[in-house]
Amino acid sequence: MIKKGIILAGGAGTRMSPITKAVNKQLLPIYDKPLIFYPLSVLMLAGIRDILIIVNKGQLNQFKKILPNGHNLGIKISYAEQHYPRGLPDAFLVGKKFIGKENVALILGDNFFYGQSLTKRLQECIKLKSGASVLLHPVKKPSLYGIAKINKKNKIIKIIEKPKKYFSNLAITGLYFFDNKVIDYSKKLKPSKRKELEIVDLLNKYKKNKKLSANFISRGGAWLDTGSIEDFYNTSSFVSALENRQGLKIACLEEIAFNNNWIGKKNIENAIKFYGKCEYSQYLLTISKKD
Ligand code: DAU
Repeated sequence: MIKKGIILAGGAGTRMSPITKAVNKQLLPIYDKPLIFYPLSVLMLAGIRDILIIVNKGQLNQFKKILPNGHNLGIKISYAEQHYPRGLPDAFLVGKKFIGKENVALILGDNFFYGQSLTKRLQECIKLKSGASVLLHPVKKPSLYGIAKINKKNKIIKIIEKPKKYFSNLAITGLYFFDNKVIDYSKKLKPSKRKELEIVDLLNKYKKNKKLSANFISRGGAWLDTGSIEDFYNTSSFVSALENRQGLKIACLEEIAFNNNWIGKKNIENAIKFYGKCEYSQYLLTISKKD
């Protein structure tokens, strides 16, 4: 069972400069809330309550203003700094102490997941005892992502980061589940040509030992990567369209914590005071009035 989760929320911020020059991307809004709420909500929906957020050096205070320690969400949030964007597997080196002897989930701070059976799928993924598992989702432009090819038995047979030549349309989404070997494997990784530790090299180590499994987010679910400005605004539009149609919020952290019975109405009232007079608080008010 995976009880710990890491959100990797650093990065160079080059692709979205100048807007990310002074503020970390994960604190910018996806429609009505900061981007970081979305990956955090995914870990919470999975049932993970012990969370490490890895941020850029010097940006810790920015994050703590909006997510101080998790108490009011019934979870524990700790922070660590990454000195420079050394690659995704660096999360397991920076987070070594936090992980300890346990298994761990990693979600990239800029990934967005939405879909009907998502929570059920996530709760299955955290049952992982050994090995690693990834979530795959079809994409139109495979050259932008880590891509996996599967055989008829749904086994992953090939993985390449941002392939120049087409071999599959299944992207490896930014949500990964690992056993404790991930720390040792990450220590042994060498930087790639682009001078980063690569997540695909890490996954290939598990694959070599026949310990890599695949899960799927089918076409009924949405996975959006907010990597570029275009994707960032498309994700915002997606959230806006759904929320305004349904009157229900995506990634309202307090609502998830309340539905999981991690917090009570008092915490919702505290949250309303904390956020102040805004539309998000209005929504929280409706939750606090539920029977
Ligand atoms: O979104 C899924 C994709 O994410 C996967 O399909 C790819 O296999 C994986 O390599 C990754 O590709 P990206 O090109 O999108 O990764 P990017 O460098 O944009 O980093 C993703 C997030 O992680 C972003 O919010 C910044 C953060 N990050 C990244 C690096 C390399 C860090 O916090 N530290 C880092 O060292």
